[in-house]
Amino acid sequence: MNAPSPAEGRAPQLTPRDYKTNFSQFVGIGPNGNLWVDGCDVEDLAREYGTPLYIISENQLRYTYRTFRDAFRAHYPDVEILFANKSNNGLAIRHIMNQEGAGGDCFGVNEMYLALLAGTNPKTLVLNGSNKQDEELEMAIANGLCINIDAMDELDRIDAIAKRLGCNVDIGIRLALDLDPLAGQEGVPMHGPGTMKEQSDSTKWGMTRAQTVEIVKQALDMPNMQLKETHFHLSRMSNDPVPFAVMAREMITWSAHIKEHTGWTPPTIDIGGGWTYGTWYGTGPNSQIDDDRAPTPDDYARLTSEAIKDEAEKLGLPLPKLRLEPGRCLSGPSGVAVGTVGAVKVGDSKKWVNLDLSTNHLSWAAVLDWYYHAVPVVNADAEATETVDLVGPLCNSDEVGPHRKMPPLKRGDHVAFLDAGGYCESSAARYNAQLLPATVVVSGDSADLTTTREQWHEVAGRFRVPPRLLAGSFAPIVG
Ligand SMILES: Cc1ncc(COP(=O)(O)O)c(C=O)c1O
Repeated sequence: MNAPSPAEGRAPQLTPRDYKTNFSQFVGIGPNGNLWVDGCDVEDLAREYGTPLYIISENQLRYTYRTFRDAFRAHYPDVEILFANKSNNGLAIRHIMNQEGAGGDCFGVNEMYLALLAGTNPKTLVLNGSNKQDEELEMAIANGLCINIDAMDELDRIDAIAKRLGCNVDIGIRLALDLDPLAGQEGVPMHGPGTMKEQSDSTKWGMTRAQTVEIVKQALDMPNMQLKETHFHLSRMSNDPVPFAVMAREMITWSAHIKEHTGWTPPTIDIGGGWTYGTWYGTGPNSQIDDDRAPTPDDYARLTSEAIKDEAEKLGLPLPKLRLEPGRCLSGPSGVAVGTVGAVKVGDSKKWVNLDLSTNHLSWAAVLDWYYHAVPVVNADAEATETVDLVGPLCNSDEVGPHRKMPPLKRGDHVAFLDAGGYCESSAARYNAQLLPATVVVSGDSADLTTTREQWHEVAGRFRVPPRLLAGSFAPIVG
């Protein structure tokens, strides 16, 4: 038996909870009928910390991470999981990921800074981005991250900074895969309308085959450049594992093309994120497909690994190391978002339940038709007898949960949206001068505040009034 790595040695053993109803391993309806996250009653947390509130289960995050990692380890010999930090870039989350041994995908200087601040091993971090700034490149180079090149002038800019700092640099290249087998396949319209190939072709990301070859040739002549990987991110256009396998196979055909024209074979392929998860109650974009028929991590791992192995064997290439950048499938199920019911309004044909939780806080609900399963926090399994629109307080229609079947709700009740651990805090907005919510991380029966609730002075404090406007406002306007 392999000795556990230091990180694995430290990480706690996880025994899934046995709730009255399990939504996941560490979120469910507890013995008193309320929603629980791990060993904490969500009603108690909402009262103690106020709402809107994000609650993250540390153990669920660890559990989901391990399940995903182990699925790929079971099918592929050399796998590294880089958590997509953008899906939840709280420092506490990053620390948990560090302890699990996960690397990270950083998008931009701020995510890189946060990951470094949390002590993540820079050699397990990649920097992605299509318009990297000098400051960003310098931070990556100085700290030893792998930079995935996504513009023709990036290599020279990296080279100049590296020479100035006297450093060697790990580089990768983001590819603009052709994805011809996906030409006829429709997907969730993530990047405009069209088939998955049309959508993928229409995005700004990646370098063409010819550009990739050119970058590799140039990099091979630069003694301080260490070519490490090729990269691609299919995104969330489908939950079907087949397109992921198509994409992975094409990474290998590109490796062969690069080898043929440069002599260099990518030792690592990084195949990005976009991996879905399903739950028995349905979740994710297009809830009707991300239910218990959704593919499992094992399905993804098996099909993707088979495609890579098969194509590498056909083309006579060594098996590359495999890197993945899962985000929402790890962070999503680990969190819930809780709001308090305010005005309950009955119209001629509809009932609205107003919450203090808005599309500012569950923003993908509005943008992508993301489905969050909503449950009352107290008596979470009470019979759902009404169809209501759960709405937030913003001046748009702010439908955080349109047409939801709920038990009767009244002012002061709490409502929780499940699977809100990914992209909710990290994409929360301040529209209508709303304050950003707090987050607590729960482990067993203890809870810790990990993001403080934003205060009025923090919102107002960013604004500046030029003195000439002050004078105009406080003196009578003459004329
Ligand atoms: C480069 C890259 N990697 C990984 C991810 C994570 O995607 P997901 O959260 O769908 O797994 C994203 C998301 O935008 C991305 O752009």
